Amino acid sequence: MLVLGIDTSCDDTSASVVKDGRCALSNVVHSQIELHHPHGGVVPELASRAHLRNIVPVVSEALSKAGVSLDDIDGIAVTIGPGLIGSLLVGLYYVKAISYTRKIPFVGINHLEGHILSIFLEERVPDFPFIALTVSGGHTCLYSVSDFGKYRLLGKTLDDAAGEAFDKVAKVLGLGYPGGIEIEREAKKGDPKKISFPRPYLSKDSLDFSFSGLKTSVSLFFKRWRDDPSLQKEVSISDIAASFQDAVVDVLIEKIRRALRITNTKDVVVAGGVACNKRLRERLLNELNARIYFPRPEFCTDNGAMIAVAGYHRLRKGERADLYTDARSRYPISEI
Ligand code: KG4
Ligand code: ZN
Repeated sequence: MLVLGIDTSCDDTSASVVKDGRCALSNVVHSQIELHHPHGGVVPELASRAHLRNIVPVVSEALSKAGVSLDDIDGIAVTIGPGLIGSLLVGLYYVKAISYTRKIPFVGINHLEGHILSIFLEERVPDFPFIALTVSGGHTCLYSVSDFGKYRLLGKTLDDAAGEAFDKVAKVLGLGYPGGIEIEREAKKGDPKKISFPRPYLSKDSLDFSFSGLKTSVSLFFKRWRDDPSLQKEVSISDIAASFQDAVVDVLIEKIRRALRITNTKDVVVAGGVACNKRLRERLLNELNARIYFPRPEFCTDNGAMIAVAGYHRLRKGERADLYTDARSRYPISEI
């Protein structure tokens, strides 16, 4: 079964053709980084207009790279939330149009379900039930996954998402946008033990996250550092980046450890943009006594392939969306 997956939830226009929910025949992502770069973050109005310009060529490229045409597609999966509403609507209405004119069934997908299931694009997959941590620019959530379509939220961020903290701290440190990759690059040259930033673990058994205090702490330290030449001799920007990065990684590892203990689970999937971070990957593999699964970086950041995987399982069960299906900027996984 061939599913065309489309994601326009934020700032990337992406489309992919996936065979039987496992094998990506193509995965095309049109990044808008250059468009938003001068603004230091995603501008929703610019994002939706860029999706409008890009959606047709991106889908055509995904079909041609897969060596298929729309006539070969058995179903379409499109992200309907959560995300930027103007961006989501471009993908959804485009899909409604092709579904109606070409008589191809479609389903609306929760973007977070896509991130959780992105691991099924890899050879090595976890056993159910598993724990999934989705860490991206918009979300930091821990789930217990008992089957395709069966997700229980165990914890989430109470304020900033982990990726958002990376982006904001990078901006404060003058490292540019998008921040995650820049922090990782800078941190390689630094000492992660140089500054002991707070680790927001919350209460003893809490599986929730909170990164805004850590972000403020880095920001206050940076202001002091900027005005103090002797501190600058002692501590470099790379040390600040490395110390911040390790504080985030410590928290993510501890929360996964707690989730594994509380649910008595052995398998854990770490997905979403922040899961590209090599320090996080390396420390998880070294420090967690569990079977850990990471999608390759291409499937960690937003992509159409993960949406096609989620769509495959829903279409197979007979689920169908219709022309009344709407996009939702907020869309908790409990409501799918
Ligand atoms: O999953 P994603 O592409 O989009 C959302 O759904 O948000 O994630 C983007 C986020 C950004 O905040 C970006 O800074 C972060 O993932 N990110 C990273 C790295 N690469 C991307 N964070 C830390 N280290 C990285 N290497
Ligand atoms: Zn995402």
